[in-house]
Amino acid sequence: MSVRGGSDVRDRENNRNMTSKETVRVTYKGKEIELPVLHGTDGPDVVDIAPLNKELGLFTYDPGFKATASCRSELTFIDGKKGILRYRGYPIEQLAEHGNYLETCYLLLYGELPNQQQYDEFNDKITRHTMLHEQMMRFYQGFRRDAHPMAIMVGVFGALSSFHHSSINVTDDKGRDISSIRMLAKMPTIAAYAYKYAKGQPFIYPRNELYYTSNFLRMCFSVPTEDWHEDPVLSRALDKIFILHADHEQNASTSTVRLASSSGANPYACVAAGIVSLWGPAHGGANEAALKMLMEIGSVKRIPAYLERAKDKNDPFRLMGFGHRVYKNYDPRARVMQKVCHEVLEHLGIEDPLLEVAMELERIALEDDYFKSRNLYPNIDFYSGITLRALGFPTSMFTVLFAVARTVGWVAQWREMIEDPEQKIGRPRQLYVGPEKRDYIPMDQR
Ligand code: CMC
Repeated sequence: MSVRGGSDVRDRENNRNMTSKETVRVTYKGKEIELPVLHGTDGPDVVDIAPLNKELGLFTYDPGFKATASCRSELTFIDGKKGILRYRGYPIEQLAEHGNYLETCYLLLYGELPNQQQYDEFNDKITRHTMLHEQMMRFYQGFRRDAHPMAIMVGVFGALSSFHHSSINVTDDKGRDISSIRMLAKMPTIAAYAYKYAKGQPFIYPRNELYYTSNFLRMCFSVPTEDWHEDPVLSRALDKIFILHADHEQNASTSTVRLASSSGANPYACVAAGIVSLWGPAHGGANEAALKMLMEIGSVKRIPAYLERAKDKNDPFRLMGFGHRVYKNYDPRARVMQKVCHEVLEHLGIEDPLLEVAMELERIALEDDYFKSRNLYPNIDFYSGITLRALGFPTSMFTVLFAVARTVGWVAQWREMIEDPEQKIGRPRQLYVGPEKRDYIPMDQR
């Protein structure tokens, strides 16, 4: 097979999801076909490979989807080479600096930043769906008291599907909207109760007068004997952290949610599948793993030994919070996160020795040929652990916080997929490398 690009001038007059005049010609066993090239509003062009199978009987092979666009999306744009992240066109730095998490949720779900009235209505709807059914509370008692809170999240969030199953019609706009509101509203309550259960403390009901992030902090840190008092600097820091995590294009957990729901399955159960995927240390679990790694390194003196381990191909150890499939430059979220980390520690007057270890580790790694040649930079998880610890969360809750913030991304991507007229059940193919046909052998002859 040979592949070469066509040469026609590109038509960008209407540059949203358009087929360009360029094509890619493919020759296989003497037959030549042209594959259409699609161009989006930004980012690399994409080859439509459907004719490869229809006309040449070929599939493509791309383990880990390193070169595959699985869908069209208007939500999030990443330029990994330049270190750019935008939600619906808005740079992440601007949203984190000037916006709040709820308006970011509105933006992701509905396409535009809300005006005051839209914001108030949205806030009101979310606020009025934060309570869990009393029967839901009983699910927690079934978990071992030392269960990882992510295990509890998977189970309890999935259990929401049993409370909202027959009532959901995913093909109906209103049905999708109310499910979206419920998922966003209930996720912090479920997460706070996972924390409370592990602590052996009573669940704290949500309060309607509190803003989303403050309500979450109160549900985590209030106890019946002493109410939680808001520290606006810390609430704002968590809100920024939530904005940074809100969506991230077609990552593993989001693709999991899309694939699971492409069969028309219950969205609560599909988001539970997303939570499972997020849990892994190569994805959202990296924030917990990164802090544990910094604690294990413990002091600046020990950094070189750990860097050597990270470079050794025979050692499974990797520098957690470093590297990214898409960013081959500094992760723009990590930059904001580092700033938030300094703000929080300074505000609380904490001198965390792990911050010194992290900064020195970053400095040495960024000068090292191994990391430079592979474009490995700190990602969002590198500084988030130190920040979340300073906010009072145990390491086991770090990925849970990621899940709370990412819920809107999963939900917005689910909606986009259901509303996409090109949507089909996700069904990848394979390169079969197993045995060729052989005949059954009776057991006494094997
Ligand atoms: N430490 C040491 N070497 C690394 C690291 C690392 N953290 N990350 C990548 N490499 C090396 C890797 O060994 C490979 O080397 P070589 O070319 O010699 O075989 C090269 O860099 C390319 O890595 P890869 O594994 O092919 O890249 P990938 O795109 O499949 O993996 C990643 C991306 C994020 C899973 C990986 O960088 C990693 O495991 N990082 C640590 C975990 C982490 O911090 N994850 C959080 C990602 S950001 C949060 C989120 O959005 O989920």
